[in-house]
Amino acid sequence: MATPHIGAAAGDFADIVLMPGDPLRARLIADTYLQGAVQVTSVRNVFGYTGLYRGKRLSVMAHGMGIPSASIYATELVRDYGVGTLIRIGSCGSVDASRLGLRDIVIAMGACTDSKVNRLRLLDHDFAAIADFEVLRTAVDTAARLGKPVRVGNVFTTDLFYGVQPQLLAVLKGMNVNAVEMETAGIYGVAAQYGARALAMLTVSDVIPTGEAMDAEARQNSFHDMMEIALETALQ
Ligand code: HPA
Repeated sequence: MATPHIGAAAGDFADIVLMPGDPLRARLIADTYLQGAVQVTSVRNVFGYTGLYRGKRLSVMAHGMGIPSASIYATELVRDYGVGTLIRIGSCGSVDASRLGLRDIVIAMGACTDSKVNRLRLLDHDFAAIADFEVLRTAVDTAARLGKPVRVGNVFTTDLFYGVQPQLLAVLKGMNVNAVEMETAGIYGVAAQYGARALAMLTVSDVIPTGEAMDAEARQNSFHDMMEIALETALQ
């Protein structure tokens, strides 16, 4: 039953799929955290795996970079493979170091965007791209139980990695939108359209106004914190 972008068989994916951007990160997650992980797709080298985490069947599959890529994989997972819950585990840029520092974890309750995808869905009206409340609540409770601080709030999903206008950063800060990334508003739109649950959690990998960025070790450690929250959330 392969789809144009996923080569898995029916039933190969668990009901919950964790989604990093990077296919090699998907492989690393499968190797590090899942028992008996089996690769279920590799079309375009966008890898997906299914295995067990503490006895629960979970999948991990990359979504690539940007809304169009993430929307394609999210749509096919939900619409064609019947996946019920998508949890994006990604990185983001901070708009203001005094509010969000390197390594901080942000849970995206909602996502603004400069992309038109949700306007295409809603006859050019605004769509409030929001996380699934139950998954959001579970993630926040799980983070608290694990003693890992998280910030919950609005993020901005941009189509421009390079060349974000300085005025935009000022406006985002003024509206208390403190993190910028490239997929969440699209994934939340797909989830709404096809009746799935979605949540994005993001680690701050860089501070946009200062150019400060995490080194490799910090990246690895903070990533582990976020993974633990995501995996334990998926268990609930
Ligand atoms: N912009 C967009 N996406 C990102 C960034 C950024 O600065 N950092 C991590 N993902």
